[in-house]
Amino acid sequence: MKRTYVYRSFERFWHWTQAALILFLAVTGFEIHGSFRFFGFDHAVHYHAVAAWSFLVLIVFAIFWHFTTGEWKQYVPTWEHLRAQADYYVFGIFRNAPHPTKKTVLSKLNPLQKLTYAGLKLLVIPGVVVSGLLYMFYRYPQRHEVLGLNVRSLQTIAVLHTAGAFLLVTFLVAHLYLMTTGHTVTSNLKAMITGYEALEPDPPPVRAESPSPSPAGGPVAALDAIAVAD
Ligand code: HEM
Repeated sequence: MKRTYVYRSFERFWHWTQAALILFLAVTGFEIHGSFRFFGFDHAVHYHAVAAWSFLVLIVFAIFWHFTTGEWKQYVPTWEHLRAQADYYVFGIFRNAPHPTKKTVLSKLNPLQKLTYAGLKLLVIPGVVVSGLLYMFYRYPQRHEVLGLNVRSLQTIAVLHTAGAFLLVTFLVAHLYLMTTGHTVTSNLKAMITGYEALEPDPPPVRAESPSPSPAGGPVAALDAIAVAD
């Protein structure tokens, strides 16, 4: 194991700001929904709108960062080891079984995380954002002319927005539990605060233009070894 820089500064800033905003949007949103009273309805509406715009700005920067760094590739879902990872969370973890996949700088997310985060980024968050914006502008149709969208009832929008909110809150709870299942209870948390985590090093890159295969099997065997290690 080697102390490795896994999460860069923008990534950590984005992660924690997103977490705080989603939590705050959930608190103010469920107050608007009528689940409890804390800030008072009018304040909750105002705070929800401010946090929503901040969230949109953060999303624009995060999209830019993911594409310029190539980090978006980390989130491409794969079936490989998906079953093993699910089995680990349901059974293995309670028997002290080893993690079925290895975390490296080039592969930070396990297959279940890839699938969940891709779903969040491509479906749940866009769903909450789009329904939230329709909700926001529907309320002032004359001012913003959103009547052109022919949104006649708030009901569908409200149901979609609230369903997305429930999914995000469910994700937060599961995320908090799974955060504690790293090498130690706090290793994942510390890594997202400091950026550093003790990891096995990434396998060395395989050179495609290598000469004829060595007796040990050459590049093909090396690729197989990487696949198994992953
Ligand atoms: C860019 C993102 C978002 C926008 C633009 C947005 C916008 C809105 C608006 C305009 C309302 C209605 C306020 C009113 O009635 O005056 C609302 C309600 C609500 N929002 Fe958001 N929101 C966003 C993100 C979120 C997130 C991330 C959550 C939860 C995690 C959330 C949870 C809620 C809930 C639960 C309600 C009450 C829905 C109802 O009872 O119909 N919102 N949101």
